[in-house]
Amino acid sequence: AVSLRALADARGLLFGAAVNHTLFDPNEPDYARTLNRHFNAVVAENAMKWAGLHNNREAFAFGFADAIVDTAVKNGQTVRGHTLVWHDSLPPWVYTIQTREELLRAMQDHVTGVVTHFRGRVRMWDVVNEAVSDAPGHPLRSSPFLNLIGPDFIDEAFRAAHAADPDAKLYYNDYNTDGLNGKSDAVYELVRGMLVRGVPIHGVGFQAHLNTDFDVRGAQVQANLQRFRDLGLDVQMTEVDVQLRPGRPEAGELARQAAVYRDLLRTCLSVKCAGFVTWGVTDFNSWRAGGRPLIFDDVYDPKPAFAALAQELAPP
Ligand code: G3I
Repeated sequence: AVSLRALADARGLLFGAAVNHTLFDPNEPDYARTLNRHFNAVVAENAMKWAGLHNNREAFAFGFADAIVDTAVKNGQTVRGHTLVWHDSLPPWVYTIQTREELLRAMQDHVTGVVTHFRGRVRMWDVVNEAVSDAPGHPLRSSPFLNLIGPDFIDEAFRAAHAADPDAKLYYNDYNTDGLNGKSDAVYELVRGMLVRGVPIHGVGFQAHLNTDFDVRGAQVQANLQRFRDLGLDVQMTEVDVQLRPGRPEAGELARQAAVYRDLLRTCLSVKCAGFVTWGVTDFNSWRAGGRPLIFDDVYDPKPAFAALAQELAPP
């Protein structure tokens, strides 16, 4: 079958997948084979999160993340880094900190240590993930960082990342922000303010955890992505998956899933997006496994969504 990687390369599009080092296993040869044949970029699904790299305050544990990065570099794949500062997947020691100064220092040390370690190998980072809440008015989300440091934790995280690797592209990343809506308005104001303050931010990631009812046109994804492009920022779809709705005939759902993938990629290409990343490779290993949201099924066979992306990526 056609290689999505070759088609994406020809367009200069970063086409990636979230990976789990547990599946780099001789007993799972189809995993590495599929990843290498169809994707020119990878992101660690969990291995680069704070709890993954820095569970022990005194020492980083880079082993699993290094394995992912080394394999990607060997295979000529670009690596997205995910994620430096997030309210989730934090180790217990972070919650024991009680002063602004100590947490600010700890956050800066974490960002500096991780970005420095991967400098030259990880080309872009989700510096701050999901800092905007879903509550009415979309204020910043409660987290140790907001509550103890204050809203400037975001600027400070980006400044520390930029100082550690001035060549890395630095992203703000969030979900339910794909279309024009109150939450994407809040993200827009957040990053616009950062640019005004001279904070080193280069892009915005739109996670795109969707389901088959999502209407890419109706949600006005293009207009939304375009307004961020008009700020001079790169945009990427960073965690794409499209869940099937339960209790509906399978063939229709797979066709709707393919259409959502197609519409989203078409829209992404239309604004010259920098990347399109699916949140996993095969349905069985997805965080939403029951929803079969990816482009390869449980036995790594390409689904209708694969064909739709191949068609969309094909040369005009
Ligand atoms: O590794 C431990 C294992 O040792 C333990 O036995 C097991 C018991 O629960 O947990 C394992 O860790 C789990 C980890 O996934 C690896 O499977 C965590 O509990 C679980 O919380 C973690 O879930 C991840 C989640 O983020 C939280 O970090 C999902 O795999 C991952 O897909 C999901 O990804 C997020 C993005 O980072 C941000 N955007 C939303 C997206 C989906 O929620």
